[in-house]
Amino acid sequence: MTTTRPLALVTGASAGIGAAYARRLAAQNYDLLLVARRADRLQALAGELASRYRVQAEPLPADLTKDADLKAVEDRIAREEHLEFLLNNAGFGASGRFYESQVEVQDAMHRLHVMATLRLAHAALRVMTARGRGAVVNVSSVAAFVCRPGSISYYATKAWINCFTEGLYLELRQARSPVRVQALCPGFTVTEFHDVMGFDRKHVPASWWTPVGQVVDASLEGLKRGKLFVVPGWRYKLIVALLRLLPRPLLHATSSIGGPGFRENG
Ligand SMILES: NC(=O)c1ccc[n+]([C@@H]2O[C@H](COP(=O)([O-])OP(=O)(O)OC[C@H]3O[C@@H](n4cnc5c(N)ncnc54)[C@H](OP(=O)(O)O)[C@@H]3O)[C@@H](O)[C@H]2O)c1
Repeated sequence: MTTTRPLALVTGASAGIGAAYARRLAAQNYDLLLVARRADRLQALAGELASRYRVQAEPLPADLTKDADLKAVEDRIAREEHLEFLLNNAGFGASGRFYESQVEVQDAMHRLHVMATLRLAHAALRVMTARGRGAVVNVSSVAAFVCRPGSISYYATKAWINCFTEGLYLELRQARSPVRVQALCPGFTVTEFHDVMGFDRKHVPASWWTPVGQVVDASLEGLKRGKLFVVPGWRYKLIVALLRLLPRPLLHATSSIGGPGFRENG
């Protein structure tokens, strides 16, 4: 892109948290590169952002589980010297026992949550650290703080995102870089995530659902304050605080109970 506005790249921009985040960044005068598989949705969002906020927005359709598509997005980042924001957000959930599920789904989840996050963060941080400005937000989950039966790749990949982001935070701090990183850890959020999984939202009490705008607000506020882990909403803050205190054997003993916060990801 050729404008002097800062540039943000958002993965998973065709729905949910990614689309809401893209709108908020456009309102803050960022140009946008919008990544997801559904090109028609990206095109519609790009048009909306351009007409509503007078910024440039470009759809970059890609399946980030595919090596060639991921490389194309990585290469694009390397060419964008105004890149100041990366939201590694694309993701999906899957339920069921690991050994009874399709291994291809497990593989795709690791490619998307781990490899795409890693490679795009690497490409972006090269640009950002060279210029001494920018931020990378990796979308994790409250699920990162626990492990339960069913959907174990989801718990594992989100735990990886937290550990990876913490490592980046420490490296950047050691290097005295002003570039910021954040692991955004939402609980249940109203998006298409659970529809894609085939999970009926009515199984979870209404008060446990976080509006998507609240998740974006918490992330942006956390960035201002340089927070590494951002957990939107008091309920989930409390749960994460408890999870950090409880001994592992006690967590294991409760693993078949299935509380509302964790039974089906979130
Ligand atoms: N909603 C929740 O309760 C919740 C809670 C905690 C964490 N999260 C995390 O929040 C993130 C965003 O999820 P969401 O809630 O906004 O769900 P969503 O509404 O289903 O959006 C998911 C986004 O990821 C994109 N995506 C999925 N597979 C992709 C692929 N192979 N390549 C490129 N893009 C892909 C989808 O676009 P296309 O289908 O067009 O590719 C879509 O834009 C995820 O990482 C999720 O784990 C969600």
